[in-house]
Amino acid sequence: MVPILEVTPEATSTADVIVVGGGVEGLSIAWRAARRGMSVAVVDPDPGSGATHAAAGMLAPVSEVTYTEEPQLRLGLASLALWPSFRDELEDDSGVALDYRSDGTLKIAYGADDMAVLDELAAFERTLGLRVERLTGRECRKLEPMLAPSIRGGMLAGDDAWVNPRRVARALLAALDRHGGTLIADRAAELTPRGVRLASGAVVTAPRVVVAAGSWSPLLLPGLPVRPVKGQILRLRGPVGFLTRCVRGLVHGTSAYLVPRGDGEITVGATVEEMGFDGRVTAGGVYELLRDARELVPGLTELELAETTVGFRPGTPDNLPLIGPVDATGPGGESLEADVLAATGHHRNGILLTPITAAAAAAFLTGEATPEIVKFCDPGRFSN
Ligand code: GLY
Repeated sequence: MVPILEVTPEATSTADVIVVGGGVEGLSIAWRAARRGMSVAVVDPDPGSGATHAAAGMLAPVSEVTYTEEPQLRLGLASLALWPSFRDELEDDSGVALDYRSDGTLKIAYGADDMAVLDELAAFERTLGLRVERLTGRECRKLEPMLAPSIRGGMLAGDDAWVNPRRVARALLAALDRHGGTLIADRAAELTPRGVRLASGAVVTAPRVVVAAGSWSPLLLPGLPVRPVKGQILRLRGPVGFLTRCVRGLVHGTSAYLVPRGDGEITVGATVEEMGFDGRVTAGGVYELLRDARELVPGLTELELAETTVGFRPGTPDNLPLIGPVDATGPGGESLEADVLAATGHHRNGILLTPITAAAAAAFLTGEATPEIVKFCDPGRFSN
């Protein structure tokens, strides 16, 4: 595990880079920076416990964004292409298997209207050169025998993949340790001219600070247009092979997804609620998720309901993340000596966008050229 650095209120600690936020974005940026020989300190009281802990881990750019959002789609496709090498490097560096699978997503239409929506989406996917195969209900059930006999039909999106986000976080912590990174198990209270003040009162200084604190990023960067979008998500425990690939269903126009893991766990998600930081699991949320999932896979009501979780997607006004330098000031409006970078606002696509976010942030930190596509993610784009 990453060494936990004790910084007492009287002490000052230094690093080349401070990363605020120990979700997959912050940890992957820290890992990439540490691999380049920088000394890195990640500040988070409980790494991997935020949106990363709730996420299902679908790497499915087309079905996660609507087809009217072209920059989002291109960004997702660019990051999906980076995932296999990101996985290989991370598994090698950490010794942790990510449960990465690339058997595609089976998109299911419950009724005729749902099928029309899937047909339209598939036509768009083909214009992007993606493999999408239209299947009858019978063909869908041949692939996934637990599907309901009444489903109308579906599409197999063969390029989609998925991964276990909790394993990605565990792997990143191990890989960060291997490259000499440290963890400060405290909350970042505010930016200071030369770094970050912790909740304990201690100060950590560095010439570069990355704010990757998901929905909580505006606490350090007031005015950053990031808001929490609540999602309730369930984990069921079933026999291994109950489902063999990601199933994403449209049930009377409502989207539901089921993501199987290698150990038999099935993640069922997710509600999308504009409720601020409301951390309650509600009866209605669980009911709706199970109701729609049962329409697709009736037998899942027999499985153990192992976990209910609430996560907060960091949403932005245009559903694109914020990745790049920001003009930050200290709490009293004073200018900062440290360069500050934002890497947040990934909304529904944090796991998918991890490799490209890490690559872009590492390039910003070292002054290298950033991937062209990341220009859409300039945090200052709303201020004009
Ligand atoms: N990416 C799935 C969700 O946000 O629910």
